Amino acid sequence: MTKPVTFAICGCGNRGLQAYAPYQTKHPEIMQIVAGADNRPERLAMLRESYGVAEDKCFASAEELLEQPKLADVLIIATQDRQHVPQALKALEKGYHLLVEKPISPSLDECRQLLEKAHETKRAVVVCHVLRYTKFYAALESMLRRGDIGKIQTIDAVEHVGYWHYAHSFVRGNWRRSEETSPMILAKSCHDMDILRWLAGEKCVRVQSFGALDHFRAENAPEGAALRCMDGCACRDKCLYDAEKLYIESPRCGVRRFGDNWPCNVLVREPTEEKIREVLRTSPYGRCVYHCDNNVVDHQTVSLEFENNIHATFTMTAFTELCRRTIRITGTLGEIEGDMAENKFILRRFGQPEEVIDLKAVTSEFSGHGGGDGGLMENFCQLIANGGTEGLTSVDASVESHVMALAAEASRVNGGKTVVLDEFQG
Ligand SMILES: NC(=O)c1ccc[n+]([C@@H]2O[C@H](COP(=O)([O-])OP(=O)(O)OC[C@H]3O[C@@H](n4cnc5c(N)ncnc54)[C@H](O)[C@@H]3O)[C@@H](O)[C@H]2O)c1
Repeated sequence: MTKPVTFAICGCGNRGLQAYAPYQTKHPEIMQIVAGADNRPERLAMLRESYGVAEDKCFASAEELLEQPKLADVLIIATQDRQHVPQALKALEKGYHLLVEKPISPSLDECRQLLEKAHETKRAVVVCHVLRYTKFYAALESMLRRGDIGKIQTIDAVEHVGYWHYAHSFVRGNWRRSEETSPMILAKSCHDMDILRWLAGEKCVRVQSFGALDHFRAENAPEGAALRCMDGCACRDKCLYDAEKLYIESPRCGVRRFGDNWPCNVLVREPTEEKIREVLRTSPYGRCVYHCDNNVVDHQTVSLEFENNIHATFTMTAFTELCRRTIRITGTLGEIEGDMAENKFILRRFGQPEEVIDLKAVTSEFSGHGGGDGGLMENFCQLIANGGTEGLTSVDASVESHVMALAAEASRVNGGKTVVLDEFQG
């Protein structure tokens, strides 16, 4: 490779600056960030300070950046869910290749518009389905394609969101209201729909889904709960979700253990205990989890049928200690159980001793979505440098995962009615 691929970033928030930009620090020979846009001046300051982007290439909005002549080979779109497609369409017209955060959009029409424009302009458009780039799912897919368990019959996948992660993102945080961002099954689990489609190897034909927002509701608030944790709430000692407990003390997400990392750095730049306490007095993250304006489900199940007669189930639940994904696949010759937190599989070929496959023995690249964030950047930079347009996954496949998620949501809100995907897409 002779010169680095140049990048502009629209939306220098958690994903733009914490998931993708750091690839430049590791691989300056492959990636160079030359421009960025965000409506928060402090995020643009971080872009300048950490990545050396010139002041006159920092813009107050994606729209302003897109008014300029083309500034880079690639545009990363890491703004909020409902902003992606209008920005992406404009960027494709300008000639950028795109790395677009998932979900593409909660509107099926907008997903289709992006698909059409990507084909028309012949630019690379990669949606950030980071799980495809993890060692875990890559190893699983290889085992299945190799036929280790024969023809696949069933897949059962579970997304354990983690009680504290759910409270942070889906009760107090950005993704708490489906009409402002996306329904939960799209926001969090379009990754899982994408993985199920990839592993099944054929199209999904029918889905059925149930789910509800059961727990994080006002009627479940303990007696005496205040509207904000720091306002002398009488229930603090017993409450799992007390904001100070979570963001300061928790071994899962507190600043004492995680310092300047997600999720505390979403609350405040360079978080300390003092800064967190201060911000919790007024920020949405200091609200009582039973008195928020959230409406997305806290658990949901989906049943899926694929063209090749594979049947799958998927469960998303807030109510788990760890954030992880687990999967169990049965086939005509054996079965596989996998745990992404452990990066481990148990392979049972029928009639033979079981085999434990521990990916930790072969790699240590598991940071950022199990290594998916870095893997995606590596694959994408190579793709652009080599003049390709289709990497490990295509925008067509990404749209399919979104159709599955939106169809599941349509089923859920209709009391679990079966949705035929061909009819749903019209
Ligand atoms: N691939 C994944 O696994 C994954 C994980 C988490 C989130 N996401 C998705 O990534 C996207 C970004 O999420 P995030 O956690 O980084 O959110 P964030 O709020 O931290 O970042 C979004 C940024 O966009 C900026 N912004 C808003 N309007 C803008 C505009 N008009 N022009 C330029 N910047 C603007 C905001 O100021 C903010 O800094 C969302 O769509 C989210 O659903 C993907």
